[in-house]
Amino acid sequence: MRHLRKLRTAPTLWLIGLCALWLTVVVRAGVVQPSGKKAAMAAEYQQAAAPVKPAATAAPASNATLVGDDTCSTCHSKQADGYAKTPHHMKSDTRTPAGKQGCETCHGAGSAHAADPEKQHLKKFSTMSSDDVNATCATCHNKGEHVLWQGSTHESRGVSCISCHSVHAPESDKGQLKKKTQIETCAVCHRDKASKLDRSGHMPVREGKMQCSSCHNTHGSTGQKMLRVGDSVAELCTSCHADKRGPFLWEHAPSREGCVTCHDAHGSSNDRMLVAKQPFLCQRCHAPSGHPGSVYDGTQIATSVRIFARGCVQCHAAIHGSNHPAGNRFLR
Ligand code: HEC
Ligand code: HEC
Ligand code: HEC
Ligand code: HEC
Ligand code: HEC
Ligand code: HEC
Ligand code: HEC
Ligand code: HEC
Ligand code: HEC
Ligand code: HEC
Repeated sequence: MRHLRKLRTAPTLWLIGLCALWLTVVVRAGVVQPSGKKAAMAAEYQQAAAPVKPAATAAPASNATLVGDDTCSTCHSKQADGYAKTPHHMKSDTRTPAGKQGCETCHGAGSAHAADPEKQHLKKFSTMSSDDVNATCATCHNKGEHVLWQGSTHESRGVSCISCHSVHAPESDKGQLKKKTQIETCAVCHRDKASKLDRSGHMPVREGKMQCSSCHNTHGSTGQKMLRVGDSVAELCTSCHADKRGPFLWEHAPSREGCVTCHDAHGSSNDRMLVAKQPFLCQRCHAPSGHPGSVYDGTQIATSVRIFARGCVQCHAAIHGSNHPAGNRFLR
């Protein structure tokens, strides 16, 4: 009785107690009488699984044994159908889940669950931690493309394989992505990068001739920003744009440093994906007043009609570097 007396003297405690009581009742009611949708679903499953006699007392999941895909499919035809269309279902390939224990390769042995699905649960990837999901997939996908996953930006930021991929309901033609295209898949989290592709200056990613994965390995890389090739941005870019690689007799310092000083890799509203319009692009570094006055008056260089459109590169055409003996001004 002592604690009751205490409660009388502390009205807030009373309130808390009542709330707790109310919660217990609600939660218990929820367990005893499943919500309409869940009950209907369970009933449907029970019907479909008529041949399987649910055991009176289900065995603990740790003692569960393999039951095989056919049993799972009686209740989960939707998942089974989706999976049947993917490379994972290639029984003839002994490296695939189908070549091993089928559904149970990923979800765990299912006898207990098949007998009493309401009480005995299997691995539910949608509610597992990213580490646990990734560990399951990485038992097989740990070579080639995937060796650098551990410690990659995505891995360490809690992104999981199923943030981008789906085992049962993939949408893409290639690579079992959750959306139809890579751009859409990445845009879920990187909307800003995907929208830049809609700008006028861009590489043919939007047109499907290149992908985000042409430049990035989203599974991890040794370079910065998960770039697929090289240790620097310039190495990546020149792996395709070899003519910009050099070494040049006359190097333009920023071009050595990295292409993104002048270009936005994902796209920009300026021609050639330039980060700024000319002449301002150049004038971020070069003072117009230093330009020889023979052609222009030094102070007029920025506004002269003759540097309209392509601007400074109308004369300084070899802006990425020059091999011409007289190329120290990048004029040729
Ligand atoms: C390669 C591993 C793998 C295999 C093999 C696999 N699954 Fe799955 N399963 C997953 C993942 C991952 C998800 C999460 C959704 C997704 O990726 O589509 C999932 C989701 C599910 C779900 C939904 C669970 C929820 O979150 O509500 C069911 C049911 C299911 N799987 C049943 C099956 C059945 C039945 C089979 C065999 C026909 C099977 N799975 C084979 C990995 C696997
Ligand atoms: C008798 C029908 C039946 C069979 C057989 C069956 N399941 Fe289920 N499964 C269910 C029901 C019902 C649920 C929903 C349980 C819940 O929400 O409480 C479920 C849920 C799941 C889930 C979500 C996680 C969980 O345990 O709640 C996965 C994954 C799954 N089943 C996989 C499988 C696999 C793999 C097999 C074969 C080894 C299998 N099931 C066999 C009826 C069945
Ligand atoms: C038992 C081994 C195994 C497990 C576990 C496994 N996979 Fe696979 N997976 C394979 C094999 C084998 C292939 C076919 C690869 C090939 O042809 O090179 C494959 C193919 C794929 C593909 C490429 C499909 C395509 O169209 O090219 C994706 C994406 C994939 N798996 C994702 C996953 C994800 C996500 C998981 C974890 C939920 C997972 N895998 C778990 C073995 C496995
Ligand atoms: C950030 C998104 C993202 C994450 C996270 C991700 N992937 Fe991928 N994955 C991709 C993209 C994009 C491709 C290329 C698809 C294509 O070919 O168009 C791909 C391709 C693949 C392929 C087929 C290429 C190959 O290796 O043969 C496999 C298998 C695969 N991923 C498995 C995984 C696994 C396992 C994980 C988790 C450890 C994972 N992925 C995490 C985006 C992702
Ligand atoms: C589920 C969300 C999610 C999806 C989907 C996703 N990413 Fe990411 N990505 C992240 C997070 C979180 C970071 C870390 C961002 C940060 O540190 O600011 C990141 C970082 C990156 C980085 C920078 C890496 C670095 O080391 O700085 C690149 C490149 C990248 N993602 C590419 C992609 C590509 C390409 C795709 C599509 C194939 C993709 N991401 C899909 C969440 C996602
Ligand atoms: C032509 C090569 C190329 C393509 C294609 C490309 N990227 Fe990048 N991405 C880069 C480079 C280079 C960087 C690093 C340069 C920088 O810091 O600006 C980068 C950086 C990133 C970053 C990190 C940005 C930051 O601020 O840390 C993300 C996220 C990213 N890219 C996502 C994507 C996505 C999503 C796609 C597809 C829609 C994509 N990229 C396509 C070259 C590319
Ligand atoms: C995987 C190959 C590949 C990589 C890597 C690559 N590009 Fe491209 N780039 C292309 C293709 C293809 C085109 C379009 C065809 C052409 O004009 O040559 C293009 C076009 C361009 C254009 C002209 C765009 C326009 O609007 O006319 C610029 C500028 C450019 N790339 C800069 C870069 C920079 C900077 C990088 C590094 C961040 C880079 N590229 C990396 C393949 C690549
Ligand atoms: C100092 C600024 C600057 C730097 C740094 C720079 N570019 Fe450019 N780039 C330009 C300008 C300006 C144009 C437009 C030239 C024109 O209109 O004739 C251009 C055009 C391009 C083009 C398309 C036209 C062509 O010549 O093929 C490609 C591709 C390109 N750059 C790639 C690169 C690569 C790769 C790097 C890094 C190695 C790089 N750029 C570094 C300023 C720069
Ligand atoms: C990020 C800064 C930066 C940008 C942007 C830049 N430059 Fe340069 N530029 C330099 C540096 C640094 C040098 C080397 C200067 C030196 O050696 O005294 C240089 C050298 C030059 C030279 C050779 C003359 C000399 O003094 O050696 C010319 C010509 C030139 N740049 C033109 C341009 C043009 C045209 C643009 C625009 C398309 C441009 N630059 C953009 C930094 C830049
Ligand atoms: C009509 C052609 C022409 C245009 C347009 C032009 N330049 Fe020049 N520029 C030259 C010539 C010619 C020289 C070499 C003069 C010499 O060798 O003494 C030169 C020299 C330079 C130099 C080296 C001398 C110095 O000032 O240090 C720089 C830097 C330079 N230009 C930058 C630019 C920038 C930035 C632009 C655009 C705002 C530009 N140029 C536009 C023709 C031009």
